[in-house]
Amino acid sequence: MSSNQKTETQATRGAAPILVTGGAGFIGSNFVLDWLASGNGPVVNLDKLTYAGNLANLASVEGNSAHTFVHGDICDGALVARLLAEYRPRAVVHFAAESHVDRSISGPEAFLRTNIDGTFKLLQAARGYYESLAGEERERFRFLHVSTDEVYGTLSPDDPAFHEETPYAPNSPYAASKAASDHLVRAWVHTYGLPAIITNCSNNYGPFQFPEKLIPLMVSNALQGKALPIYGDGRQVRDWLYVIDHCRALQTVLKRGRVGETYNVGGGNQRNNLEVVRTLCALLDELVPESKFRPHQQLVKYVTDRPGHDRRYAIDARKLETELDWHAQESFETGLRKTVEWYLANSAWVEGVTSGAYQQWVAQNYGNRGVEPATVQGTTTKEVLR
Ligand code: NAD
Ligand code: DAU
Repeated sequence: MSSNQKTETQATRGAAPILVTGGAGFIGSNFVLDWLASGNGPVVNLDKLTYAGNLANLASVEGNSAHTFVHGDICDGALVARLLAEYRPRAVVHFAAESHVDRSISGPEAFLRTNIDGTFKLLQAARGYYESLAGEERERFRFLHVSTDEVYGTLSPDDPAFHEETPYAPNSPYAASKAASDHLVRAWVHTYGLPAIITNCSNNYGPFQFPEKLIPLMVSNALQGKALPIYGDGRQVRDWLYVIDHCRALQTVLKRGRVGETYNVGGGNQRNNLEVVRTLCALLDELVPESKFRPHQQLVKYVTDRPGHDRRYAIDARKLETELDWHAQESFETGLRKTVEWYLANSAWVEGVTSGAYQQWVAQNYGNRGVEPATVQGTTTKEVLR
């Protein structure tokens, strides 16, 4: 018996489960943990365990009979169809994706495969399953596609925030692949009647975020006295949302969202990258008073910009707020403090995910970026980033 089959036999039968894809990643694992803790019913969790997927994120639900982990690929249509037929989920919540913009620039192919072809395979399997349903099972079934605000492109400083009618204008291979997946979902609703809903969310932060993304990368580097690499002038704006607020928005959309609709999700927390990093440094100065790298802001280094770097994202979430009564609970200040405290308390998790392959990524992504000025405590930034 394979390890997959072993974990699958742990499933409880009874209340209809949901099928989550990518539930070992950052947002997916937060969603699964929160869903189970809220007593919402069983979860079947399909994840390929790429570099971004980590079973350690799910350690607290190991042995929980309401959680069934399946190690597999969403591009495997036969596997997805089998899981749908066997577990008869009441919903599919689709997180699985390649998600890092810089990786999409250096290696776009995996993004096209998982984000476009994987979503296509999932939609086809879900369509076959939905067509086999009758009565209440058919009535309640939902396909929730978790997408990003990056499909809308970039904003100038005075532009209004992205709303659900903003035209698509993706700029990176990642954003283009997510935009393509959104279009597929839309087409499956209109052509085949699949009861799908799309959410487009802004930048998330919180526990279990892989330290290739801005916030966990900066925390991890600062704690080790490594350079804090700011792309370009650091004035790019993102609209930050604490991950549990995103997860609760998804629960709300699943319960009350209208089929065929798109809902934008965001925290109303626009900050430029320099502001974010300065706030992080101040928090670390306060929470790690014994650090020999204080003040941590001295570690900031400007490096070569990301090609095609989007200048500003901002989300208008009024549709979700007024129609479905969702509201973010965390401010950026409370959420960021919780996040930094989590990373400080979970250094073993960080060490676990930043082993061999991560070091190769750091060398590849940062090794060739120019650095000015050239030193951090007498070392070149290239050296401290090693
Ligand atoms: P992540 O990279 O942390 O996790 C992705 C997960 O998907 C990993 O567990 C990985 O193993 C799994 N996966 C990748 N390819 C797979 C495949 N072919 N089959 C099965 N599993 C596969 O991503 P995240 O940040 O948690 O993002 C989750 C979703 O939310 C993505 O669709 C992303 O586009 C979207 N999103 C993310 C953010 C953000 O700020 N992180 C914001 C808005 C939307
Ligand atoms: O907007 C939602 C998107 O947010 C999600 O769809 C993506 O999956 C998620 O990765 C995120 O994309 P960003 O590109 O905005 O996130 P990232 O953390 O990579 O970068 C945030 C900002 O910080 C961006 O302007 C680039 C900058 N940055 C990032 C890194 C990793 C730096 O200045 N230095 C860095 O080392």
